[in-house]
Amino acid sequence: MSVRTENKPQTAGIDLTDVDLFVRGDHTAAFATLRAEQPIYWNEGADGSRFWALTTYDDVLWAYRDHETFSSGRGAIVGGSLHSEDDTSAGRMLVTTDLPRHRMLKQVIHPSMSATIAKRVAAQVAELVGRALERTRADGGCDFSTDIAPELPAGALMVIMGVDHEQAQHLIGLTRRMVGYRDEIFVDTGGDARLRLAWLQAEVFEFFADIVAERRRNPGDDLVSALLTSEVNGRRLTEEEIFFNCMNVAVGGNETSSYTACTGLLALMDHPEQYRRLRETPELTGTAVEEMLRWSSTNAYVQRVAKRDVVRGGVEIKAGESVTLWNYSANRDETKFQDPHLFDITRTPNRHLTYGSGLHRCIGAPIAQAELSLLFDRMTESGLTFRLAGEVRRLRSNFLLGITRLPVEVVS
Ligand code: HEM
Repeated sequence: MSVRTENKPQTAGIDLTDVDLFVRGDHTAAFATLRAEQPIYWNEGADGSRFWALTTYDDVLWAYRDHETFSSGRGAIVGGSLHSEDDTSAGRMLVTTDLPRHRMLKQVIHPSMSATIAKRVAAQVAELVGRALERTRADGGCDFSTDIAPELPAGALMVIMGVDHEQAQHLIGLTRRMVGYRDEIFVDTGGDARLRLAWLQAEVFEFFADIVAERRRNPGDDLVSALLTSEVNGRRLTEEEIFFNCMNVAVGGNETSSYTACTGLLALMDHPEQYRRLRETPELTGTAVEEMLRWSSTNAYVQRVAKRDVVRGGVEIKAGESVTLWNYSANRDETKFQDPHLFDITRTPNRHLTYGSGLHRCIGAPIAQAELSLLFDRMTESGLTFRLAGEVRRLRSNFLLGITRLPVEVVS
C-alpha cells in the first residue's frame, strides 16, 4: 500500500506502536495530548506501520458505526502480526468479516454466547473461583493474575467449547502466548515476530483439530459442534474456517476478561475507599464492573481499513488506509465522562466503548459480564480482602492492556 504523507498531522514524540509507552503507563497522558491537539492523528510507527489513530469518543463511535466506509477485513491488530494486509483470516472469522457474511456467521456463533449460556458460565466460574479463593485464604495470598483470574475464561471455555478444566487451562496457555507474542515471559522474542505469531497460531489450530475430530464423532451442544453442522451462505464451513472461529472466540475471551479482572482489582487496591465501599455495599458490583471495564479498556484499540476516501475533522482519510479506534482514549474523553481520570465505582451513566460498538460489538459481552460480576460478588461474600504484596508487571502489548503479575496478600 502506498500512503501519501502530505497533509498528515504529526505530533512530535508520540508513537502508539511503542509498547514501552504503555508498559510505563505514559499512554494516558499521550492520549490526552492527542485528543487536545490532534484528535485524528497520523501515526508513523518505528516498526514501519502507518495508520490513523482516532482518539475522541465521537470519532471512535463514528468509525465503529460507519460500516459503509470502514471494513474489518484487515483484522483487529495493526501490522507486524498475522492480522495484516495479507491476513489469511480475512473474511473467515467473525471479527475479520464484513457484511453480508458477518451476519450469517454471527447467527451460527451467537447461540453459544446467549444469556442462557452466560448463566451456565456463571455457575461453572462460581465453582472454580470458589475453590481458588479458598486456596488463597489457606495460603494467605497468591498471584491473582495466574491463580485466580484465569479461572474466568476457564469456566467460559468449559461451557462454550464443552472441554474439561485441564483442556481449558491448556488452551488459555496457548492463547496467552499468542497474545503475548512480544513478551519475553511467554515466548522467546528473538527472530521474526510474524513467523513466531504464525507458529503460535498453528499450535492453537492443532489444539482445535483434536477437539473438532472428537466432536465429529460425538457432537454436543457446544460451539464447535454448532460450527461443524451449520451452513453459511448455503455451504458448510471448511475445517480451517472452524479453526479460525474457535480461535476468535478463544482469543476474544481468554485474555480480555482475566486481564480486566486484574486491572479492576488493582484499581480497587489503589483506591482503598472505593474498595471498602464495594465490600460494604455489594449491590454496587454492577456499576463497579462497568467502571472497571472503562478504566481498564483492556482491548485498547481495534483496526479498520477505509473502503473509500472520507473527510472527518478536516482530515482526509484515503481509501486503503488503516484506521485505529482507540477505546482506551475514548473512555477517557473529558467531553463525555465527568472526571475521566477518577476511578468511581458508582459512575452512572457509563457508556464506555470497551466492548466496541456497531455490528462487531463484542458478542461475548454477556459472558464477560457474568464472569466479572460473579468474581467480585464471590470475593465480597467470602470476606476476603486483598492488599498488593509486590511489584505489578504489565503485558508488553499496546493492543491488550494486561497484567502478568499481581501478587496479593490476604488482609482479612
Ligand atoms: C472484558 C472482556 C472483553 C472485552 C474488553 C472484549 C472486547 C471486544 C471488542 C472491543 C470487540 C470488537 C472488535 C471489533 O470491533 O473489531 C470484541 C469482539 C468480539 N469478542 Fe470480545 N471482549 C471481551 C470478552 C469476550 C468474551 C468473554 C468472548 C467470548 C467468550 C469474546 C468474544 C468476542 C468475539 C467472538 C468478537 C467478534 C464479534 C464480531 O466481530 O461480531 N469477547 N470484543
